[in-house]
Amino acid sequence: MYFRSIMRCYSTMGRKFIVGGNWKMNGSKKSICEILGFLKKGPICPDVEVFIGVPFVYLEEVAKNKPDNVIVAAENCYKVPSGAFTGEVSPAMLLDIGVNWVILGHSERRHIFGESDCLIGEKCKHAIENGMTVVACVGETLDEREGGKTNEVIFRQLKAIADHIGKECWSKIVLAYEPVWAIGSGKTATPDQAQEVHQSIRCWVKENVGKDIGEAIRIQYGGSVTGKSCGELSKKPDIDGFLVGGASLKPEFITIVNAKSS
Ligand code: 13P
Repeated sequence: MYFRSIMRCYSTMGRKFIVGGNWKMNGSKKSICEILGFLKKGPICPDVEVFIGVPFVYLEEVAKNKPDNVIVAAENCYKVPSGAFTGEVSPAMLLDIGVNWVILGHSERRHIFGESDCLIGEKCKHAIENGMTVVACVGETLDEREGGKTNEVIFRQLKAIADHIGKECWSKIVLAYEPVWAIGSGKTATPDQAQEVHQSIRCWVKENVGKDIGEAIRIQYGGSVTGKSCGELSKKPDIDGFLVGGASLKPEFITIVNAKSS
């Protein structure tokens, strides 16, 4: 039923479609078994890259029991290898258990836990320089959007990352555009709204980091993505995948993973 045209999983620029599930602070041993069950069952289009963001305590167990075609990511990490930072986890520790992907700068980290643009830039630098791939999130609040500040906010967040990392690091970054007003609200951005911001992000990277890097970087959309909304969003030229919260805990995630190929 899927994969009529595998080539459609790639944009004209050769960017491989990438879908991530961000479990956030959800899951139990029992529910994780169920999630791994539907991930194993799939089927997952072979030309889509898939990762799942998993709470620290479950990382090792999920890494052991996941299907081979799914990457396991942490949902956060700190900016130094070790030391007196109670409650924090470092890239060195994640690498020690075989996890080399991490989500950084999620809006919940920014807004609930007060992480600054600068801290997120520092975390990106440390994680990438130590061999991790980073899914770096940016996005505006409703007030910022209504105040006409969407681009200003997103460019500021991007600049804080660019200020900390060298050009050679950008191949280890996937960007995720997640408008805060769309997260967990059931209010998905329209395909046109999302495309407009994705295009601005790509232009910013081209102008401020490098043309080739801007062409190659993958930009995921996140915010109330569902099995219903993913198809139209996936047709937009600058949307290279999704970062999915609530729906990644349900079998519907497989539909989203295959959005581009179904
Ligand atoms: P929802 O899909 O639940 O809106 O969450 C999106 C998100 O924050 C993914 O990181």
